[in-house]
Amino acid sequence: MNKRFLVLIGAVVMCISTVHNSFAQGGMWIPMLLQNNQKDMQSKGCKLSAKEIYDVNNASIKDAVMLFGTGCTGEFVSKNGLVFTNHHCGYYQIVRHSTVDHDYLTNGFAAKSTDEELPCPGLTVTLLQYMKDVTDEVLKGVSSSMSEQQRKAVTDENIKAIIEKATQGTNLTAQIKPLYYGNQYMMYVNKVYKDVRLVAAPPSNIGKFGGDTDNWMWPRHTGDFSVFRVYADQNNEPAEYSKDNKPYEPKKFLKISLKDKQEGDFTFVMGYPGTTRQFLTSYAVEDIQNLEDPARIKLRTEILDVYKAAQEQSPAQRLRYASDVASIANGWKKWQGEVKGLKFLNAIEKKQQQEEGNALMKEFKRLYDDGRRYKMEQLYISEAVLASDFMKQARRLLSLIDISRDDSVSDIVLKTEADNLLNYLQKYYNNDFRQHRAVDSTVFLRTMVIFYNDFAKDNYTFLNNKVSSAKSVSDYFAQIYAKSILTNPAKIEKMLKNYKRKDYKKLIDDPAIELLSPVWGHYINQTAGKLKENNAKTDSLYRIHVAKILSDYNAKGNKDVSMNDGIFPDANLTLRVTYGNIAPFKPKDGVEYRHYTTIAGIMEKEDPNVYDYVVEQKLKDIYYNGDTSPYGDRVAFIATNHTTGGNSGSPVMDAEGNLIGLNFDRNWEGTMSDVLYDKDLCRNISLDIRYCLLIIDKYLDAKNIIDELEIIK
Ligand code: ARG
Ligand code: ASP
Repeated sequence: MNKRFLVLIGAVVMCISTVHNSFAQGGMWIPMLLQNNQKDMQSKGCKLSAKEIYDVNNASIKDAVMLFGTGCTGEFVSKNGLVFTNHHCGYYQIVRHSTVDHDYLTNGFAAKSTDEELPCPGLTVTLLQYMKDVTDEVLKGVSSSMSEQQRKAVTDENIKAIIEKATQGTNLTAQIKPLYYGNQYMMYVNKVYKDVRLVAAPPSNIGKFGGDTDNWMWPRHTGDFSVFRVYADQNNEPAEYSKDNKPYEPKKFLKISLKDKQEGDFTFVMGYPGTTRQFLTSYAVEDIQNLEDPARIKLRTEILDVYKAAQEQSPAQRLRYASDVASIANGWKKWQGEVKGLKFLNAIEKKQQQEEGNALMKEFKRLYDDGRRYKMEQLYISEAVLASDFMKQARRLLSLIDISRDDSVSDIVLKTEADNLLNYLQKYYNNDFRQHRAVDSTVFLRTMVIFYNDFAKDNYTFLNNKVSSAKSVSDYFAQIYAKSILTNPAKIEKMLKNYKRKDYKKLIDDPAIELLSPVWGHYINQTAGKLKENNAKTDSLYRIHVAKILSDYNAKGNKDVSMNDGIFPDANLTLRVTYGNIAPFKPKDGVEYRHYTTIAGIMEKEDPNVYDYVVEQKLKDIYYNGDTSPYGDRVAFIATNHTTGGNSGSPVMDAEGNLIGLNFDRNWEGTMSDVLYDKDLCRNISLDIRYCLLIIDKYLDAKNIIDELEIIK
């Protein structure tokens, strides 16, 4: 069938069902309103009622699920506050407890008793007590004739008062978040537990097997889990770390099922998805697909090239850049998948068809045209200008200069700031400055050249004049790097050690400052404010746009999503439920991917010479000696649950609510799901809970952990 014909059919289908988000298109549902999904969930195989998943008065599954840290999900798996989450969610804690003598990152770790568990100051888990629709209270006093600023002033006041009323005299915290761009407001009342300890982690070459090479990909063989425990005071309430604290007793913990899972089986995921943008207009999607993602990808490709080449030099260098590379590569790879997926789905045309005849679109277009330059400037500042350590230090030096010029800042504060900067720089110079210098100067050069050619040349006259008098663009930047005081440790240390207010005069002529000061100044003084204003206007237009979608939906009169096509508010890092079925998928013509992977695939991928694919002898022994019972050889599986960043570590449950997996990623072909979900292409990737238990039991020999779990065979 030719493509034009397909598009035509697409248009016809679109006219028949002019919905923006139908339940067949995924969904991240509000637990409190799950009643509306009950029929649909049960028709897909769920054996639970909505109340068994979310209930305020009785223990329900929601009591087993937590926001882990600030951007992941975790779940209770024992009556003694034991928590499962992903290895990449516990990564920072595992690294921080690792030393050369106890390299838990490389070798793994398992506390054999609670005494051996490792405190993680700063790490919190947040347990939702209840959520409440507070729309009427938040919008009290708001009228349609108000300006955006007036509206915001009123709602901010209201929000403050509602939160105070809900939390006063308690140990609760509360948050109110807008849904549907402020058409609805929801309050989330929480308890935040602050004593969380590391219990176990697999070695890196299990927990991060496949590394960045396999990241965002299926088929996958990553044992992406780690184990923590939440502690509480004598009354089971939140408390700062203390030796006297006791393991927290959750209202509910998840039982674990070892039963075999088949294609088509019902699964659901409860967790904290961070951000989706389902309601974006075609103009926004066009910008993402054709401007923003490509610019980010181009810059990060350069940066990764430099870091990866350095990593090839030695094992020490590989480690040195490991965590930078992991985070830079994560977005880099996701955006590539997103662009591909949006194109494949003809997302822009689909949106355009939905927008036909909509009177708001003219204004949307105007706002996107106006805001584009500001958005791109912000993107280039964060992705290019501040990509190198050199410019990051220059940014700090610039603040020191700024406060030196400000007479209202006392000498003591000034001294503290100079000391802080000195401390910071000394760490940086001590480590491996000699070799890092070559890497960082290259990152600086390459990102600045792109910044100049792709953005600054057309937008900043002050740079044009300077660059045109240099030998070449790259020579202009190379000179800055070579001549700055920041690349001369002895000189800058000397200055900062006895820093006097008037020293700033020697610094303002520094080439790094001469470059950064006008660039940063332009962004802060001219662009940031306009961007904020543009965003506020765009958001309020979306509020009107989405209100219409909601009222069309409500006019149908039936909230049951199995009767109506349901719509859901974008993810906003609050507790949601998504459900679907275990399912294979076809990434491209002629290829079909099975819905699960096995340990055999780990052995197939093994390559002792490639860091990402090293397999420990002990895992081989376990596998080849057939010593995997009762867990078997499954490693990971995929399903149609609609998830996003923040869902990592979320419990993946079966029809009865038993834990069968830990969500940790999506397939590359489906990463456009944040903007446009497609049930044929989008899959969430989960660690099979049996592989997690196999590693805990047979690899880490932590029978104490296994004994705590409630396992259904
Ligand atoms: N892609 C997953 C997510 O977005 C996992 C990231 C961590 N793993 C990695 N190899 N960088 O968080
Ligand atoms: N890997 C993501 C996370 O860390 C999950 C995803 O984007 O699907 O939350």
